[in-house]
Amino acid sequence: MTMCTCVWFKQYSNERNLAVNPQGGNTGLVGGSVPVFDEIILSTALMNQVISFDSVSGILVCQAGCILENLNRYLEELDFIMPLDLGAKGSCHIGGNVATNAGGLRLLRYGSLRGTVLGLEVVLANGSVLNCLASLRKDNTGYDLKQLFIGSEGTLGVITAVCILCPRKPMAVNLAFLGCQSFSQILETFTTCKRMLGEILSAYEFMDDRCMKLVVSHLKLSNPVTESPFFILIETSGSNSTHDQEKLNNFLECVMASGLVTDGTVATDDKKIKTLWALRERITEALTYDGYVFKYDISLPVEKLYDLVIDTRVRLGRSAKNVVGYGHLGDGNLHLNITAESYSHSLLDAIEPFVYEWTAKYSGSISAEHGLGFKKKHYIQYSKPWEAVLLMQQFKAMLDPKGILNPYKTLPSSS
Ligand code: FAD
Ligand code: MLT
Ligand code: ZN
Repeated sequence: MTMCTCVWFKQYSNERNLAVNPQGGNTGLVGGSVPVFDEIILSTALMNQVISFDSVSGILVCQAGCILENLNRYLEELDFIMPLDLGAKGSCHIGGNVATNAGGLRLLRYGSLRGTVLGLEVVLANGSVLNCLASLRKDNTGYDLKQLFIGSEGTLGVITAVCILCPRKPMAVNLAFLGCQSFSQILETFTTCKRMLGEILSAYEFMDDRCMKLVVSHLKLSNPVTESPFFILIETSGSNSTHDQEKLNNFLECVMASGLVTDGTVATDDKKIKTLWALRERITEALTYDGYVFKYDISLPVEKLYDLVIDTRVRLGRSAKNVVGYGHLGDGNLHLNITAESYSHSLLDAIEPFVYEWTAKYSGSISAEHGLGFKKKHYIQYSKPWEAVLLMQQFKAMLDPKGILNPYKTLPSSS
């Protein structure tokens, strides 16, 4: 399949100036995987084979079109897991995950793909194959070229294979779903949680009551705890269930006694864990049933995270249907979503550039984990200086002089 991709570029795309839009599971949220004008979709769907797995090192080598959930199932049989997990796992491809540098629900524990991806095979715009598929933990020979392609959203090359370091499957997993009365209590609970759960903490996610109302009303999921302004999901993953449960119980006693948390439920069995995770993972889906969704994916200092939701709510008043906040609090990543009965240009004008200016004022990032794609490329300057954008445009021109790789995406045009 890699050879086909390479021959395609050599004989057709590059020579005939045919633009290509690489596409994995098409779950991206910024329009990077959809053609804009006349680009040809290059799907990785048939590149779905595991190439090798080393059960001593935990190093997996696979083709780019493997679906994330399938890889996880394959690894679970061998007592390992993928180092990333996200709500779109049933459809997204590992190549798409790498191309967007996807974060997800367990970045807090296993880190970014910039650390876990050990090697990549990439077909360049001129049809040559860049084989940087080394399966080594350490390799300081020259520049780390694979990093250029991680998060490049298909604009610098087509990722055809991935080598990734996978952790052992944890022997004990617990999930706590808790209600909190204020955002500052969420932050204090996070601090307590890091202190008391330490190395077994594997996720710290939050959602506000409006998200909860949407998953309950649109998806008919049920809320297992008392109505609260905020909810948190805390996951622990460790190697000793007695030890982990004891730690979690001590933590829960502490946060309940101090009033940081007002109600909660804990799951240790697979079925309940999945049911609780669905409340958080299916917010994206619930939002789509609420109307047109304006989506923002923002990094901010954690203490400022929810102020953006409040300020946006005040600014938009009744012109928005719902303004909700949820996200990867443990990573300082807010998902601010605004719904309306239908798309409205005046509502968009009220949201942008307000959200971007607000984010830049507090030195945040206007795209924490979704990338810039087609929708956000013109706002890059809110998070990067022009010198950096210029250098990016120079890399793009060097690797793709004819501009045939996912044109119109990620970077503003250099003219
Ligand atoms: P696509 O959508 O097909 O493509 C995304 C971009 O990558 C495009 O620019 C495309 O051209 C490029 N691309 C795809 N494959 C390749 C390749 N082989 N070589 C080069 N370029 C390529 N994202 C997060 O970061 N964290 C989350 O928690 C998260 N949760 C999500 C939950 C839901 C319900 C949904 C719908 C999306 C979520 N996302 C999340 C966004 C999205 O799923 C991720 O960005 C995912 O990594 C995209 O993978 P994909 O295979 O669908 O890529
Ligand atoms: C999530 O964390 O649920 C995703 O990034 C998707 C979204 O932002 O809607
Ligand atoms: Zn997310």
